[in-house]
Amino acid sequence: MANPNGSAKVSQKNLDRTEHELPKHLKEDGEPNIKSLSVALGVEWHTAKRWVERLKEQRGEGASEPAYQMPDFPDEDIPVEEILEYKRKRFQKKKASFEAHTWFPIKIKDKRPIGILWFGDPHIDDDGCNQDLLDRDIALCNMTEGLFGANIGDTTNNWAGRLVKLYAEQESSVKTARRLAEWFMLDSGVTWLIWILGNHDAWGDGSALLSEMAKRHSTHKLICHDWETRFTLKFPNGWAPRIYAAHDFKGHSQWNPMHGPMKMGQMGDDADLYVAGHKHNAGYFFFENAYRQHWQHFLRVRGYKFLDDYARRNQFPEQYEGCGAVTIFDPGRQQISVYMDTEEGADVLRFKRGRRGGPDPRPVPARCAQGAATTAVHHRERARALADRLYRAAQADGLPAGRRDAPQRGAGTRLTVSRQTAGPPRSRRPRR
Ligand SMILES: [Fe+2]
Ligand SMILES: [Fe+2]
Repeated sequence: MANPNGSAKVSQKNLDRTEHELPKHLKEDGEPNIKSLSVALGVEWHTAKRWVERLKEQRGEGASEPAYQMPDFPDEDIPVEEILEYKRKRFQKKKASFEAHTWFPIKIKDKRPIGILWFGDPHIDDDGCNQDLLDRDIALCNMTEGLFGANIGDTTNNWAGRLVKLYAEQESSVKTARRLAEWFMLDSGVTWLIWILGNHDAWGDGSALLSEMAKRHSTHKLICHDWETRFTLKFPNGWAPRIYAAHDFKGHSQWNPMHGPMKMGQMGDDADLYVAGHKHNAGYFFFENAYRQHWQHFLRVRGYKFLDDYARRNQFPEQYEGCGAVTIFDPGRQQISVYMDTEEGADVLRFKRGRRGGPDPRPVPARCAQGAATTAVHHRERARALADRLYRAAQADGLPAGRRDAPQRGAGTRLTVSRQTAGPPRSRRPRR
């Protein structure tokens, strides 16, 4: 019999199953117990109800024969059970992918130190983008062996919504902006490890466009993450520094530009290096986190956008330095060093790679080998070994050796932060 309601059809197989199970799932008053029936049939409650209704219609139970016959329409979509099954599969896929992309390892095959040049917000299509500085940092990546690139986000202005009118105030059109972004990613020659998508990139279809470009990155796999990325660099000797980079970390202080990253460093996921951009200011801080028992570095890169109308109108004083920064990861010393002057960072990396070319004989502390981090255990062991050596030498010389456990805190740690010379001379800067 045709379905007078014209709603979704039920296959004869499912009706037969329902007919078979129904007698076992009747209430005292003879009405079907839909809940237990749905469990027995392995379908949703509302599906079981619909099947019972169709069965009743087939048996001629319930409503009297209508005085008309509606056409038997085919279903316009797949059964909801299939949609639910797809949903479950999609969720499992997305969850597995998300977990694989969180704290993923990047395996470094080189035994020598490597560096990452962190490009601050490029805003490459903005009239205020300092192309000379950007070119300089691109050239450093191309000319320095072992120096990789990472983009902290806001590749283009990508104006959207009510801000789309700002395209009238800049020379680069949307089309040109996308061409510039494509060049930066695919043709600038930089070997990218990471591209982060900032708030500007996320507007409109910017993220989708950049992700498509990343898929076309033919030289190596480029990881393109929305807002943040967490990964480890796994060196051949087992050292695995943890890096947490985000377009920005939540939290703000007018007194401390590192407030957000430091908050994450002490209250959020543990890492050895935190890197942020977004606020168009630069800064660097590091300290030994006693609770986490290792050094933590907090870096903020300024970006390449100068002549910022938004900053001027809102009275944010413009900085001139720290557009990008170089972090060097030295597996031999198991330490991270940070250079706000990218040229100096590249120089030091070249020196370190030349000087420390062979395999490193130093055993890796167990904690570091497990990827748990970090330098604290390593430094303590080195400090104690140094104290022992001095003690024995003093004894051999017949000199008072002092306390054998004399404080050696920080022995072997070294950090260089130097002024970036890329901005205009201070004397020529506008007074504020
Ligand atoms: Fe931003
Ligand atoms: Fe930005």
